[in-house]
Amino acid sequence: MSESIRLEIFSAQDSPGGRDFPDADQLQSLAARALQARNTLIDGTCAGSDFLGWLDLPSQAEEWVEEIQDLSLELVENVDHLVITGIGGSYLGAKALLQVFSSPGRFGGHVLLNESGKEPIGPEIHFAGEQLGSFDLFELIQRLKRQKFAVNVISKSGTTLETAIAFRLLRAELQQRLGPRTDKHIIATTDPHNGALRAMANRNGWRTFPIPPDVGGRFSVFSPVGLLPLAAAGLHIDALLAGARRAQKAFLRGSLDADAAGQVDVLLSNPALHYAALRHHFFEAGKQIEVLAGFEPVMTGIGSWWAQLFGECEGKQGKGLFPTCASYTTDLHSLGQYLQDGPRHMIETFISIDQPDPGPVIPKMDEDDDGLNSLAGRCLSDLNRAAELGTMTAHDAGGVPVMRIVMDELEESCLGELLYFFEASAAISALMLGVNPFDQPGVEAYKSEMRKQLES
Ligand code: PA5
Repeated sequence: MSESIRLEIFSAQDSPGGRDFPDADQLQSLAARALQARNTLIDGTCAGSDFLGWLDLPSQAEEWVEEIQDLSLELVENVDHLVITGIGGSYLGAKALLQVFSSPGRFGGHVLLNESGKEPIGPEIHFAGEQLGSFDLFELIQRLKRQKFAVNVISKSGTTLETAIAFRLLRAELQQRLGPRTDKHIIATTDPHNGALRAMANRNGWRTFPIPPDVGGRFSVFSPVGLLPLAAAGLHIDALLAGARRAQKAFLRGSLDADAAGQVDVLLSNPALHYAALRHHFFEAGKQIEVLAGFEPVMTGIGSWWAQLFGECEGKQGKGLFPTCASYTTDLHSLGQYLQDGPRHMIETFISIDQPDPGPVIPKMDEDDDGLNSLAGRCLSDLNRAAELGTMTAHDAGGVPVMRIVMDELEESCLGELLYFFEASAAISALMLGVNPFDQPGVEAYKSEMRKQLES
């Protein structure tokens, strides 16, 4: 399959939103800087160079696929539910992809249905350990009271409190029921050598999968962190990885050695570099916010994953566009006014799907009392497309620079491509800002204040 991801500038050059896009000279300078940033990634001289394992992860992942698929078959045999316990990069990717492909399970989780649409392919997948609210976890444990379940605890450090607490509660529940057989129902995804979770896994003989030490949490979706829950649910992880490899190839295309015009050509034919360069341009031009907008509600999890990726890569030293998401048309009835007419400190990036599921056809009614017979015979995706084009046009006219990321369709390989495309652009965008894309020193502040509270 050929590449599916394209980056398009929607705003016309002389439109209110389009005027803020880079001119030819600015584009030339951006191209040189983006290519320079990519070179430092490739030769390993960039900030945070201990965390570049994600670059080749879609190929490296092949070494885990068979074992993950074997485990998935065992899970189908032995349990009806799998609880994924993790926070941040340790769950957002799997949850985002499951949201796209799954249906609601009978117990409030996610299930992938077989072709007839009647039977779940794998166990129902639940998420825990991503917050400390008292209601959700209690309720989940109640729902699973008489159910056969296993836990996949995911933590690279092994010390993240939210995850550790949820895991302790789930483990206690298993122990109460299964006694020593509990250990057969726990799978730990963690650092291959270090950390509290690794030590517990070794001591108790739990099955384990590695998070490579040179892969940070938010870049780990193509490692067992994302692959295991997805394969267990029944998703085609081979296709996901194939799509990610396509994006990797596209990202590595073109060279810094080209002349000035050649560098601009490389930038324009390389969606990840182009997107990163445009984001950087807008930040330098004074924009403060990027809204990632989509018209398919099943993509909101992708938005949360994206927000974490860009937020944690870039939000350092007072720099970085604030990443926020909008789900349209729903949010047009809450944020629409602000976006159209509020302060012009934002850019808007739409995710657009070339071939969406057509959805139901609008029926013709004998009595046209709602006046909608003019739309009869058209499918819902047709209306959604009109809303998308209408919104982009309106926001551009209101002075918001509008671009869109277009993907062919909502299937595994296109989504693999999309996620890798975002990872590559987040790394480049942060490097262009002059910050380390791969650390998150700011996340520690709340943890240490929380510890003080707990110890006082
Ligand atoms: O991107 C990151 O590194 C973070 O979001 C982590 O994934 C998150 O904090 C969870 O950390 P851990 O896997 O160590 O429990």
